[in-house]
Order: sequence, then structure tokens, then C-alpha cells
Amino acid sequence: MTITHESVATPDGVVAPRFRPPAGASSAAAVSLDGEWRFRLFPRPDTGVDRAEPGDDWDRVSVPGHWQLAGAPDAWPYGTPAYTNVLFPFPVEPPHVPDDNPTGEYRTTLRLPADWPDGGRTLLRFEGVDSWFQVALDGELLATSHGSRLPTEIDLTGRLRQGGEHLLAVRVTQWSAMSYIEDQDQWWLSGIFRGVTLEHRPDGALDDIRVHADYDHVTGVGTLRVDAATILPGADAVAARVVVPELGVEGAAGEELRAAVEPWSAERPRLYDVVVTTDTETVTLAVGFRTISIEDGVFLVNGRPIKLRGVNRHEFDPLRGRSVTPERMLEDVLLMKRHHINAVRTSHYPPHPHFLDLCDRHGLYVIDENDLETHGFEVDGWVGNPVDDPEWTEVLVDRVTRMVRRDAHHASIIMWSLGNEAGVGRNLAAMAGAIRTLDPARPVHYEGDWSSDHVDVYSRMYAESEEVDLIGQGIEPPFERADADVRRRAMPFLQCEYAHAMGNGPGGLADYDALFDRYPRLLGGFIWEWIDHGLTRTDDDGVLFSAYGGDFGERLHDGTFIADGLLLPDRTPSPGLLETAAVFAPIRIDARDDGSLLVRNRYVFRDTSHAELRWTLHRGDEELAAGTLELALDAGTEAVVRPPADLALPEPGDAPVWWTLRAVQEKPDAFEDGWLEPGFVLGAGQLLLVEPAPLAAPAGRVTVEADGGFRAGPARFDSRGGLQELGGRAVHVFRADAWRASTDNDRRPGRGERSDAQVWHRAGLTLLGERIAGVGVTDDGTLEIDGRVAGPAIRTGLATRYRWQPVADAPDAVDLILDLRPEGPSPQSVARLGLLLALDEPRAAEAGVRWTGLGPDESYADSKVAALGGAWEHTVADWQTRYTHPQENGARRGVTSAAVSFADGSGLRIDSGEVTVGGRPQVGFELSLRPWSDEALDRAAHPHELVPDGRLWLHVDAAQHGVGSAACGPGVLPNAQLHAAPVRMRLRLTAL
Ligand code: GAL
Repeated sequence: MTITHESVATPDGVVAPRFRPPAGASSAAAVSLDGEWRFRLFPRPDTGVDRAEPGDDWDRVSVPGHWQLAGAPDAWPYGTPAYTNVLFPFPVEPPHVPDDNPTGEYRTTLRLPADWPDGGRTLLRFEGVDSWFQVALDGELLATSHGSRLPTEIDLTGRLRQGGEHLLAVRVTQWSAMSYIEDQDQWWLSGIFRGVTLEHRPDGALDDIRVHADYDHVTGVGTLRVDAATILPGADAVAARVVVPELGVEGAAGEELRAAVEPWSAERPRLYDVVVTTDTETVTLAVGFRTISIEDGVFLVNGRPIKLRGVNRHEFDPLRGRSVTPERMLEDVLLMKRHHINAVRTSHYPPHPHFLDLCDRHGLYVIDENDLETHGFEVDGWVGNPVDDPEWTEVLVDRVTRMVRRDAHHASIIMWSLGNEAGVGRNLAAMAGAIRTLDPARPVHYEGDWSSDHVDVYSRMYAESEEVDLIGQGIEPPFERADADVRRRAMPFLQCEYAHAMGNGPGGLADYDALFDRYPRLLGGFIWEWIDHGLTRTDDDGVLFSAYGGDFGERLHDGTFIADGLLLPDRTPSPGLLETAAVFAPIRIDARDDGSLLVRNRYVFRDTSHAELRWTLHRGDEELAAGTLELALDAGTEAVVRPPADLALPEPGDAPVWWTLRAVQEKPDAFEDGWLEPGFVLGAGQLLLVEPAPLAAPAGRVTVEADGGFRAGPARFDSRGGLQELGGRAVHVFRADAWRASTDNDRRPGRGERSDAQVWHRAGLTLLGERIAGVGVTDDGTLEIDGRVAGPAIRTGLATRYRWQPVADAPDAVDLILDLRPEGPSPQSVARLGLLLALDEPRAAEAGVRWTGLGPDESYADSKVAALGGAWEHTVADWQTRYTHPQENGARRGVTSAAVSFADGSGLRIDSGEVTVGGRPQVGFELSLRPWSDEALDRAAHPHELVPDGRLWLHVDAAQHGVGSAACGPGVLPNAQLHAAPVRMRLRLTAL
């Protein structure tokens, strides 16, 4: 049978799968073939090019790399990236793919290095080629392989002459039968995208090593057995010596060695060099001793229950796609450590193996996931799904085998995953069986089969907190099959995806985290996802921007859904990542209603002796007192703390007084070297001890101007009560507001019938206008304006009353009391309740803002753990969060005063008086500032399209709706929803 790219067949002509030591760990010779290769792209797999054609006059491309990105960011000589999430971008008729199937012909010249050893074997190794490829040497076809994110080795023994030049030809098709099982939610990108090496295998070498390194938490003894094998057929085991110099133990391969050890965990990633030697090869592995077990439905590492505070990580680089460099991998790992993330699911394929070396070294728990997703079959009720088709069994078993063989020596891997969104069927059992045979020590994970028949943990994605709460208690609704229900109920539960971090969000992360902490059965979860996959490209004017689905002219695509990470594409942490760090903090400090702070040591294997608990008493950023708390907490324990009893509190002033407690680590230890900076915050929390003094009564009187208009301090009105000028600056818009530029979460219905954005649209909030019903001056000299704000075609609206009164002893100040009263049918929610003000300001982006309130970064009602009370400063430009897809951003909450300073030296200060929502008092208002309107923000497809419009747009809100994660998962939880409610907000506006 001729194997083609449409064959459902395991790789042919390849070496049996084996482990992959870290780069440099083996003494055997190896040489990288990465570099410039000769390349031509053809429209179809029948390229007509002879395998012996050297391609001397062809183009040059970098290997590793994706051919679609060879000219990025401004040229696309070999086709363009394309993005679909679930849908196959071609007709579903497995194993067939379109005739139009871009196919790359690669050529390079192979020369054995002069010092290449004689004898033994020489293997050619590909770490990853997307999606199907054939390899020929000197015109002869040797192998056919696939499994884009899996290694392939080809035996070249006897084919390479010392001093000779050999032609290596690789033909790679973009589409193949394998595309049906590689339907992950990411860009379709092709080519030799991971490295290529030539590896010498001396006779009697350590071709395959299996490491069994357990830890007995009762005795503190580590047990090590290293099995060594060759790949030569018939010569399975290899006699080797195993030495652990640091432990002073040694023995033979296959023998069990024992010694007292320090165990490995993500918190304390203790590794020991294990030196394995034969006469012909030495391999030094960094081995961690640790034991994973599941007891009474609880997931344990080294005998203790752990929580996974994880993220889903796709491999991504904004210029290189999935062809990530070691520097990027390290950057990811260190960014995770710095943000208190302790686990990674390698969604949805085995990562570059070096990433796992880094997880071992720096400490991250890993779910290593098989390269399998068949989500596109769901569209048609999973008809034809390879996972249930015996024709595919060998291919799928081959994939998990290659993954487990390659990676099993990594301490960081705590579970294997069969794949993602691949439906159900007989091949699940086959894959799980194959994994268990190779590695009985690790639990098996797969989310797509809720019966959990083939797995060891119950996994779900985007389950709502209500359901997670029931699962935590073990009282979730039964699974339809009683036997499966009994098994599943005894399993730990994890959310392999939750808290969808698309755009502004995720909201509600803290709610989930609290549940994970509450119930031992809950193992935690993995936020979806680590990074926005925005590819850098130039627009027609040469401006760089982050492209998403549709930006390469794809006919079928899923738009912005590829931008759903905690990092912006250039790896700038989004506010969502800062919130994640605060929620995942290992030393959580939370305010309690009784005026105390609860300090919880959430480390599993560590007391808090490395942390200093520092407090400050501060008004804004002015420190009034400071000290430290003597408190050492054992792993998993907590304590309630209060400000010192003799702490002298000041009288109320113009800013709140906070008592802020931070757990700070100054010095890294050996495990944290390289990423922990002095002053690293392990957790923070605070108490509001003194509320600001109420604003004094204004007591001034409005004056009526000659033209019938009014003046109230710095504010000038026309005769109808329209605000014309504030502090000498023209006012373009001034009215109550209830809308916001939709977030990605607002735009999708989540589990509800309608999205929030639809609800707001129907309630007319997108097209609000104001009718002034009456204006007059009251006896006490207040200008009182009554009006009604509403949108077209609907009775829903807000009755408005604005009362303006000058401040008697401050000629540049005026007080405004805003009252809002909902009228007509109430929508399910409203985006915001407050004031919108647009001031004339040609250099609005340069304006500076200094505020007292929560900060320094944006926060929302359901994403607010990271924000702390204090005084902060930004320019208006820096105030904006440049989400890959523009949307509502930047709200600062709890603002009691804010001063805007304009480029011309003038300014505007806003102080908060009483603020109530639905009669409930709150401290301060929510502030947003932009150099463009919400409409422009809502319309823009990319941040670079937003241009300052000559105005400063301010929102001063009593409240805003939370953000939720309805883009994929639950919407805003009841505790963060905003409903139409009466609002009162008193502000003092002072021209500076
Ligand atoms: C999940 C899927 C992920 C991603 C996510 C939405 O269902 O497993 O790959 O598509 O939804 O962003």
C-alpha cells in the first residue's frame, strides 16, 4: 500500500519511540541541523519535484519555523496563517483533505562533523513537523511521519559517509488525514517548526531511559530505579551504572536504590543529578523524587493534598507562532512563577521538550496532553469521529506512546491527558490502556468523556461555581450510569479549563478559588488561557498590530476568539494576570467583616518563615506608621490578625486611611534563583480604618448670567441647564450614562439566553440621549435640573436630577448631587450607573491623573482582589489597557478623589462625597478616562485604530457591572451584577 497524506497509518520507516534527554545531558555526539534550509512552496502534494533535486536556486527559510510566517511581520510569501477554533476549514470527509494543499519542499545538505564517532548508529530527529511529512536522503525515500507536536526519528546508519555531502529532502503537507485529529483552537500553521538534530547512538548506548523516582513521605526515603534499554531490536535492556553523587548512592540499572532525600514539588523543585553510564555513553538527568496518589477522592503529592492553580498554555510567539525559542519558554515559566501559578496544562499537545525541563527545574505541576483534538466532528453530532473508529486505533495509541516515552522522566508531569475535545469512543480505552502499561504511576486525564470511564480524575471545563460547589461536597447530580457514577464520585475533581480570560476578564476567579480551597475533593484548575495568540503584522500604512482571525483574509474564521489569554501577545501581563497573581497568592490575606485580616498559608510544603509580614498605616500614599508582625504559619495553617492595639489613628481627612499588610520575600533561595526579585509580594490585604471626612456643605449660591444662563463656581450652563463649560474648558457631553463599550464577555450569552450587550442594546442603552424637563434655582441657591436619559423605542429610562451648588469659600469649586431613578421595564442588568463627561482637550492622552482609591491597575466588581487602596498616578494614555480587541477597560474603583492635570497646566479635581447604590452606601466612585469615546472604542477592531479625538472622556460612576466570563462559561455572578437601581452620588468639582 502506498502511504499518502490521506492514509490513516502510523508513521513508517521510523525508529521506535524513546525518551529524550535534556539538551546537553548525554555524552553522545549530536549536532543541530537548524538554520537556513532551501525551500519552495507548491500548491499540492504532487509537487512534481524529484527527491534528488538539490534546490540550489530555491528560497531560503529558517528551520525551525512555519512557512506562513517566514516573512512576518510584513511579507507573506508562502500563504498566510488562518484561524478556526472548532470548524475544519475544509469539507469533512475523512481521511480526505482538499486538493489545494500547500506543500513545502525543504532541502538541506547533511555533512557529518569531522569528529563524528565511528560505529554505532546515527539518527535523524525531528522534534515537530506540522502536519505530515516524508523524508528522503540522497533521493531515496526513507520515512513518512506525522504527529505535529511529537518527535520522529529516522535511522540513517550506514548512509552517511564521513566527509561526504548528502541531500536531505523533506516534503511537508499542510493538510493530511491527521488534520482531522489536530483540530486544536489555534492558528493553522505548517512546516518544520521545531528543531532537527543528528544524533549519534554508540553501540550499547542509553537509547531509552526510564526513571522511577518515588518519595515516601512517612520515612523521608526516596527510591530510585533507572531502567536502561537500547533501540537495537532484540537487545532490550542495557547494563548501566546509576550514580547519584549528591546522595552517595550507586548501583546498577534496574536495581532499586534508596536514600533519604528532599522531595520534589512545584513549591520546592528539588532535583538530583542522576548519572547513568555505560561503556559508551553517560547521561546526566535532573531527577525529582515525588509520589502521586489519590486517596479518598483527594489528589496527593508526597502524601499531601495539593491545589492546582494553573493555566492552559499553548506554545505561542507573536512572530514565530508555535516555533518558540528556549528564551520564550523560560520567559513563560518565570512569568508563571512570578504570578503564583503552580501548574500548566500543555493544551493541547506535548510541548517542546525543553519546556518540561524548565518545569522540572523551576517547579510547575504539568498535565502533559496528547496531540489530539477532533472537535470539528461535534458540529455533525460526532459522526465519523476518529476516536470511535477502529481504523484510527493504532494511530492514536502511537501518539500517546510517543508522548509517554518522550516525557516520562519529568518529575513535573503529574498526569497524562488523552487529548482535548475529541468526543468519546473505543479508542479512549485503547489510549488509556497504552499509557497505563507504559507508566502505571501517573493518573490519566481526559475531559471529553464525562463518564470518566477511562480516567482517574473527574475533569470538566467551565462548570459554574454552583455546580463546582456541589461536586466539592460530593452531592452533584448523578451520572446516568450507576456504575460510572459510583466510580466518578470517588475521584478528585478538576476544571481543566475555567475562567476564560478573553479580553477584559476573567471575572469571578476569586469565587472559584474560594471553592477550591473549601473542599478537599477539588483539585483546582487551569485558567483558559495563558496568552493571546495575536500575530504581529503591519497594516497598509506599515503600522504593527496584533492580528487575529480574519486579519489574513480568511473566508472562514473565528475572529477574536484566539485572543483570550492572561498575557497580551507581546507578553505584557493583562490586568487579568495581575488579578490571577493576587487570587493565587500563596499567603492569602483577606479582610473579614469584623475588622480583622485572615492570613492563610496556602503553601503545602512550606512554612512562612521566608516571608516578612510588613504593615503600613497610610493615607493615600502618605505613610503614617509602619511595622512588622511576628507570625510564622506552618503549611496549611491560618491566623487572624489585627492592627496593633496601640496604633494611633488620625482624624478623618480628605483621603481614607488604610492598614495594609503584605507578605514580602526579600531574598530568593536556591529554588527561586533567577526569577524572584527583592520585595516579591507573596500576598497582600488591607483594612479601611478611617473613612474620609464628609465634604463640608457647599453653601454657595448659583448666579444667573445676563444671557439667562447660570454660573456655579467653575461651571457655566446655558439657560436650559446644559453644562457649557467647566474650569474654562468647553464641555461636549455631560449626562447620566448606563452603557459601556462591550467586552468580549458582554458580547456572548454564556449560559444565558441573551448576551449582556444584547440586553443593553434592547434597553436602548447604546443610544442614550437626555431630555431636560426643567431647570430652576432653589431657595438655597442650588441650580436644579431635572431630566430623563433614555434610548429610542423603549420606555426604559433613568429619571435624572442634577443639583449644582457653588462652594462658598472656594470660588473654583462646585458640588454636584446626581440622583438617578430607574423608570419603565428593568433590563436584566445595566452596564454602569453614573456620569459621562467629555471635555475639550487636544492633548488628552498626555494628561496626568493622580487618584486616591483602588489601584494601581483596573478592577471590576468581580475582578478586584489585586486592587489595593492607596494613591496612584498615570497618564491618560497609560490608563488604557490595550486589549488585543478593544473594549471597556481601565475602571478604577473606590476613588475618593482624582486630579487630572492637563498639558496646559490647568486641571480638574473630583472629590467624592456620599455615594449610594440602591440605598447602600459605598466609599468613592469608579473612574475611567479616555482620549476617545466609548463608541469609538466599541467600533475599533484593533488598538492601533483608536485615535485621540481632541476630547477627554470621563466616566464617574456609582457602579459598573462585573465582567464575568460569558465568552466561554458563566456570565457575571449575582454578587457582581448591576441592576437598574436608584443612585445618589455627590461630587465636588474643582478647577485647578
Ligand atoms: C475550550 C477548548 C479550548 C478553547 C476554549 C475557548 O472548549 O478546549 O481549546 O477553544 O474552549 O477559548
